[in-house]
Amino acid sequence: MENYAKVGKTELLAELHELNSRYESYKASTVRLDMTRGKPGADQLELSEKMLGIIQKNEDCFDENGFDCRNYGLLDGIPEAKKLFAEVLGVQPEQLILGGNSSLNMMYDTVARAFCFGNLQSERPWGQEPRIKFLCPAPGYDRHFAICEQFGIEMITVPMLEDGPDMDVVERLVSTDEAVKGIWCVPKYSNPTGTVYSDEVVRRFAALNPKAKDFRIFWDNAYLVHDLYDEQPQILNILEECAKTGRPDMVYMFSSTSKITYPGSGVAMLASSVDNIAHIKEKMFVQTIGPDKLNQLRHVRMFQNKESLMLQMKKHADILRPKFQTVLRILERDLGGRGIANWSNPLGGYFISVDVLPGCAKRICALCSDAGVALTAAGATFPYGRDPLDSNIRLAPSYPPIGELEEAMERFTVCVRIAAVEKLLKERKASA
Ligand SMILES: Cc1ncc(COP(=O)(O)O)c(C=O)c1O
Repeated sequence: MENYAKVGKTELLAELHELNSRYESYKASTVRLDMTRGKPGADQLELSEKMLGIIQKNEDCFDENGFDCRNYGLLDGIPEAKKLFAEVLGVQPEQLILGGNSSLNMMYDTVARAFCFGNLQSERPWGQEPRIKFLCPAPGYDRHFAICEQFGIEMITVPMLEDGPDMDVVERLVSTDEAVKGIWCVPKYSNPTGTVYSDEVVRRFAALNPKAKDFRIFWDNAYLVHDLYDEQPQILNILEECAKTGRPDMVYMFSSTSKITYPGSGVAMLASSVDNIAHIKEKMFVQTIGPDKLNQLRHVRMFQNKESLMLQMKKHADILRPKFQTVLRILERDLGGRGIANWSNPLGGYFISVDVLPGCAKRICALCSDAGVALTAAGATFPYGRDPLDSNIRLAPSYPPIGELEEAMERFTVCVRIAAVEKLLKERKASA
C-alpha cells in the first residue's frame, strides 16, 4: 500500500481489518519478546571469556609497579589500566579516574558531589542554590533524565539536530541563565538517535561562555569505540578543545567498558582537567579506599593496548550489525513509503530511534505490550518521560537473537500501522 495519507477511507478500513486479524494472532501467542534495553547479547558477553581466567594465582595479582591489587589503595586506578583507557579516551592518565563497573554511577556521584560540596568554581553547593537547571538534548538517555529528577534538577529540553544539540538554544540558555549548571551530551552515537556531534558543535561547546561559573558539560562518551561499520566517524576531543578556549574545567567526560567487556563487571571512567580530578579525588578519598583493581588488571591483561581493544570492538560489530540490519530491513519493508514513520540508520551505538505519527507512540507501545513485545516506554527519551509530540520510540536491537528480533519487529510494524490508520480515520471523521 502507498502513502497512507493518500489512501481512501474504504481502503484504510480494509487495511485496519487485515492488520487487526494479524494482531489478534500475536495477542493469542505466548511468545514474549524484549527490546527494552541496550544490553549486549550472550554471544557478545562470550567474547570476553578469556578475562575470566586471567587471574588465577597469587602471583597474578600485582600491577606493573608490584602493587598488590588484592589490597586497599590506588584510589584512581592502577597505572597500566589508566594508561590504556587514557589512550582510548585521548586524554592523559593524570586526567583520569577509574571507578567501579558503572559510568552511570560516576555521573550520579558527580551530580551528588556538586549538590553536597559544589564544583571547583561553585560559590556554594548546588543543594543550597534556589534552582538548578540542566539542558537535556532530546530524544536522549532516560537515565540521565532520571538523575535530574531524583535531585530535583529542572530539565529544559533542547532539540537534537542532525549533527548534535541545537547550539543556538544551548548558547543562549547557558550564557543568560545562571541557574543552568549543566548539560547532558552523548557525543558519539547518541542514545537513541545515533547522532554524531560535528566538529562545529564540539567547538561551539568548548567556546560556551556560561553565566554560571561552575557550569559543567556532562560528556557521556559511552559509545566512543562502538562502531558498526568500517566507516568510523571521529569526534573532536572536547577536553582538548576546552583547553584551547581556556575553559579546561568545563567538562566531565565519562565512559566505561560495559559494552566492551561486561556491563556487570566492567571498568568505568571519569576524565577531566587535572584540577577537577584533584578536586574530585579529595572528596572520593573519604568515600572509598579504592576501586576493584583486580578487575582493572583483568582488563589490561585481556587487551594490552588500544589496538587489541579495537579488534574486540570489531567482533562486537560483527554480531551487532546483522541485528541492526534486520531491524532496518523490516522497518523499510513494512513501513517504507507509507508516510507514517521515520527512523535513524546509525553507524554505531546501541539504538535505532523511530519517529511515528504524532500522538501515536504511547498507543503503539501499549499495542506492542499486549502483543508480547516489550519496548522502552514511550516518552522515556524525553525529560520527565513526556514526549511533547508523543512520537519517539527507542528500539534496542542488541539483546534478542535474530529470529526473535524478526518476530518482534513484525509485530512492532503491525502496531505502528494500526495506530497510524486509527489516527488517520479519526482525523478524517473529525474533518468530515
Ligand atoms: C548513553 C549511555 N550512558 C551510560 C550508559 C550506562 O553505562 P554504564 O554501564 O557504564 O553505567 C548507557 C547504557 O545504556 C548509555 O546508553
